[in-house]
Amino acid sequence: MPGVFITIEGVEGSGKSTQLLRLSERLRHLGVPLVVSKEPGGTALGRELRRLLLEPHPSGEAWCPEAELLLFYADRAQHLHALIRPSLEAGKVVLVDRFEDSTRAYQGASGVPDSALDRLSELVLRRLRPHLTVLLDMDPETSLQRVEVRNLAYGAEFAETRFDQAALDFHRRVRARFLAVAQAEPNRVAVVPARDPVDQVEAAIWVRVSALLRSAGFAVD
Ligand SMILES: Nc1ncnc2c1ncn2[C@@H]1O[C@H](COP(=O)(O)OP(=O)(O)OP(=O)(O)O)[C@@H](O)[C@H]1O
Ligand SMILES: [Mg+2]
Repeated sequence: MPGVFITIEGVEGSGKSTQLLRLSERLRHLGVPLVVSKEPGGTALGRELRRLLLEPHPSGEAWCPEAELLLFYADRAQHLHALIRPSLEAGKVVLVDRFEDSTRAYQGASGVPDSALDRLSELVLRRLRPHLTVLLDMDPETSLQRVEVRNLAYGAEFAETRFDQAALDFHRRVRARFLAVAQAEPNRVAVVPARDPVDQVEAAIWVRVSALLRSAGFAVD
């Protein structure tokens, strides 16, 4: 496929949305053909799933880990079918806020075995992988404090609050699982320290993204 597929990952509050916005503005300014999306909820149907996944249900009933996993992959399958693959086939750069590594980190930390994740991945992604994944890495103590400040300032979207209530221990496991993916796939995953000031994180991301886009034939200088 002629396009370039880039995902951004990391624990809550690590700065994914902040950096994705900066990166997309820079690429638009350079005239790079771009699609920016997120998971869950990158398609019209996916947004329904996002609500079901992240909004607490009034009944108090919560998804069991297996149901949650399948809904995340249903969202991903639709996202790949309706948006990601067609955009890549059209030669675009596709930027996605959270993708499969988040499922591996969060659902894995919730106890879903890797073998189940591997099988779903094979079914849904087939051979497609991001060309580059930027992993914004930082300690969850600090990142969750950022989330609290953000939510106080801007109000909490239901979507971003559910996992915030989980124990810090859980988030430490999530971080460790992200780092394990990075260690297993060092060519795909670039670990970027996310505690640094926003401009510095942006510059570190740009080094990796610009090199990739240049090698793919995009004019980014
Ligand atoms: N490098 C940084 N230094 C300090 N504050 C930051 C930095 N990057 C982002 N922030 C702030 O931290 C908060 C969380 O950032 P952001 O919403 O981008 O994180 P996120 O990874 O998208 O979180 P979520 O997983 O909840 O979507 C925001 O208020 C943002 O302005
Ligand atoms: Mg975000």
